[in-house]
Amino acid sequence: MKPLKVGIIGLGTVGLSLYKILKKRKDLNIEIVSLCDKNNKVKIHKQDRYKFETDYKKTLNSDAEIIIELIGGLNPAETIIKKALKNGKNIITANKELLAKKGKNLFNLADKKNKSIKYEASVGGAIPIISNLKRLKTINTIKSIKGILNGTTNYILSQMHTNDISFSLALQKAQKNGFAEENPALDISGKDAIYKTILLTFTAFNKWINFSNVKSNGIKKISIEDIQKAKSSGKKIKLICTVKKLDHNPTIKVAAEEIDASSNFYNIENEFNAVEINGEFFDSLLFKGKGAGGFPTASSVLSNILEFRP
Ligand SMILES: NC(=O)c1ccc[n+]([C@@H]2O[C@H](COP(=O)([O-])OP(=O)(O)OC[C@H]3O[C@@H](n4cnc5c(N)ncnc54)[C@H](OP(=O)(O)O)[C@@H]3O)[C@@H](O)[C@H]2O)c1
Repeated sequence: MKPLKVGIIGLGTVGLSLYKILKKRKDLNIEIVSLCDKNNKVKIHKQDRYKFETDYKKTLNSDAEIIIELIGGLNPAETIIKKALKNGKNIITANKELLAKKGKNLFNLADKKNKSIKYEASVGGAIPIISNLKRLKTINTIKSIKGILNGTTNYILSQMHTNDISFSLALQKAQKNGFAEENPALDISGKDAIYKTILLTFTAFNKWINFSNVKSNGIKKISIEDIQKAKSSGKKIKLICTVKKLDHNPTIKVAAEEIDASSNFYNIENEFNAVEINGEFFDSLLFKGKGAGGFPTASSVLSNILEFRP
């Protein structure tokens, strides 16, 4: 069996975890032909003799068949993916922001070049939600999708509810335990959840929702008083993402909602994510798992690599 040749660009939380998994799972016959990170801070084991680059262009010019973009952000990630597609490479990315904002053009380019962009890791971390949605929609009409798609905000809301602590204390705790970035704006504002909801909508309904048309307050305005009020009537507040298809057009909503114990999301706590899909024949399916973190996310990237095996 010929090895699958991959080039990895970005060796941070996810990229380095992927590198470690691939080092351990030699049996999968995946050959890393080029590794790239902006600066030479990454400790790659000398014995591995991988080709380590600090300039992504060298990875794009390597004989990798699959380019794995794990740097995040819009630029140069967009340039990397475009150039790689033009060079005849397939793409794997976890970059929900880029795909939510520029996905339409990138997927059109991929189609034109007869190449694929795979993005399992961009929604729900370890949860195999993209592949399952693709499979389910071939035999069912998907009616709606609901989810808790952001681990940081779910952690903060869970901590406020369980420990009766303020938003800022819960945020500090999230940061201390590695569940929130130093700058948590993308999560708290709901933007990260919107990116993921746009990607679920595209996957299920093949329609791109324009990011700038979706408004959300995320959990910015949720106070401990709101949490306590919900708690006194047996409810919890969660950041819920909803996609509904009315006629031909899907609509999406990302909002903090009060839910009661009858909701599938009531017991989804802390850094966990969950997605509920409602469809014509199967009624309701619930997926739950770790929504972020190096190894959970890298395992989704790995599942995408293996999809390229003939
Ligand atoms: N972390 C998670 O749990 C998670 C979960 C789901 C999806 N994702 C997505 O996965 C992607 C990677 O996330 P991450 O958490 O691994 O990010 P990260 O820890 O910040 O890693 C990104 C790495 O890429 C490097 N880099 C930045 N620009 C580069 C360039 N032009 N050329 C080469 N290397 C460059 C960075 O170097 P510097 O540090 O020097 O800038 C850093 O080492 C993002 O799209 C993110 O949204 C992450």
